[in-house]
Amino acid sequence: MTTPLRLGIAGLGTVGTGVVKIVRQKANLLADRAGRPIAISAVSARTRDKDRGVNISAYAWEDDPVALATRDDVDVFVELMGGSDGPAKAATEAALAAGKDVVTANKAMLAHHGQALAEAAESAGAVLRFEAAVAGGIPVVKALTEGLAGNDITRVMGVMNGTCNYILTRMQSAGLPYAEVFEEANQLGYLEADPTLDVGGIDAGHKLSLLAATAFGCQVDFASVELEGIERITIADIRHAADMGYRIKLLGVAQMTGRGLEQRMSPCLVPKNSPLGQLEGGTNMVVLEGDQVEQIVLRGPGAGEGPTASAVMGDVIDIARNCRVCTFGVPAGTLTRATPAKTATPAPYYLRMALEDKPGALAKVATVLGNAGVSIDRMRQYRHADSTAPVLIVTHKTTRDALDEALGAMSRLDVMAGTPVALRIESV
Ligand code: HSE
Repeated sequence: MTTPLRLGIAGLGTVGTGVVKIVRQKANLLADRAGRPIAISAVSARTRDKDRGVNISAYAWEDDPVALATRDDVDVFVELMGGSDGPAKAATEAALAAGKDVVTANKAMLAHHGQALAEAAESAGAVLRFEAAVAGGIPVVKALTEGLAGNDITRVMGVMNGTCNYILTRMQSAGLPYAEVFEEANQLGYLEADPTLDVGGIDAGHKLSLLAATAFGCQVDFASVELEGIERITIADIRHAADMGYRIKLLGVAQMTGRGLEQRMSPCLVPKNSPLGQLEGGTNMVVLEGDQVEQIVLRGPGAGEGPTASAVMGDVIDIARNCRVCTFGVPAGTLTRATPAKTATPAPYYLRMALEDKPGALAKVATVLGNAGVSIDRMRQYRHADSTAPVLIVTHKTTRDALDEALGAMSRLDVMAGTPVALRIESV
C-alpha cells in the first residue's frame, strides 16, 4: 500500500466543504490519478457544530489553524479561510516553516504577500500552489506554468469577477439600472461580505496581479494595478456602447511593454461579437497570448463549491504525484521587480457627453479633441426632447494623457452639460 497524502483543511465554507466531498466521494479515482490515496487528517473552521452536508467526524478537529498547519499527520496544509492577513497568513507561514506543502485559494493573501510566501516555501523545500485563487475552476495558472511554458507570454486578459459580469450583463439584458441589479446580486448572495471587493475591482485586481507575476516572471505587485470598479457604469453607457457595437466588461489586462509592466483592471468596451463580448452572467474568461501559441481562450465558472474545489484538488493531486512547480512558475529568487508602466498602451476611447443643443457646440468639442491630438473615428448624436443633446464619440487610438487633456478642456466648455464619460476600448 502506497503512503497516503494527508491533508489538513482550514476553512470549511463553500470551498472547504467541496474539497471534503471530493476527497470522500472520489477516493478511488483520486488514488488512481495521484498514484497514492489522498486522505484528510484534520480540519479546522470557525464553528465546529454546523450542518455542512458532509460528515467530518472522522477527522481530528483543531480550533487553531496554526496548530492544524503544523500537525505531524498533515503533509499538505489546505488554506481555505480567506483574508489577506490574520489566521490565514499566520497558518500558511507556520505550515511552510514546518516544511509542509500549501494549497490555497486565497488571492488577497498572495496579492499582498505572494513574494514573501513563495520565498518561504522555497527555502523550506515546500511548494505553495494557488490555482483556486484565480478564476475558480479555470486551470489558468497551470496553463501558464505548464502548458504554455514554452512561450513568451505577451498579454493576459480576463473577466475574473463573476459578480461584476453578472451585474453588467443583467443591466444589459433587462435594461435595469446599476443600483437595482446590485441589490438583486445581493439578494442572490453573489456579493462578497465587503461588496467593494467585487464592484470596486479589488478581487479581480488581486487575481490579475497573480497572473501577471506568473506570466511575466515578476514579483506580485498588486499596489501597481490601476484599479477602477463598475460603480459608475450607467444603463445609458451600456445601451450606447451596444449601439456602437460593444459590450462593457470589467476587464483585467496585464502586459509587459517597453515602458514597464502594465496592469489594469477597469471597465472597458470590447467588441460585442468577440469571445469576451459574448461572455454572459457569472462566468469567467481568461485570454492568454504567447509568442508561439498566439491566443488561448479559457472560459468557465469563476466561483462556487464544485469549480473552486476542483481547482484545489488539481493542486493537491500534483503534489501527490510529486509534480512540484514553483509558486509563480520560476524560482522565487529569480522573479524580477518590474517597473510599473506609468501610462497605458494607447487605445481608442468611447466618450459620452451631453451638449447644449446650440450652434457650434459640436464644433467646440471637435476643436478641443483636435487641439489635444485626439482624432475622431465615429460620432453619433441622438434625437432628444430637451435642450441637451446626447453625443457619443469613438476616438482613434490615443494616449491616456492626450485624452485627459481633452477631457479637462471639454469639461470647461460652456456647451458641456455635466462631465463627459470616457471608457477605454480594448482590442481583443
Ligand atoms: N466574488 C468573486 C466573483 C468570486 O464574483 O467572481 C471569488 O473570487
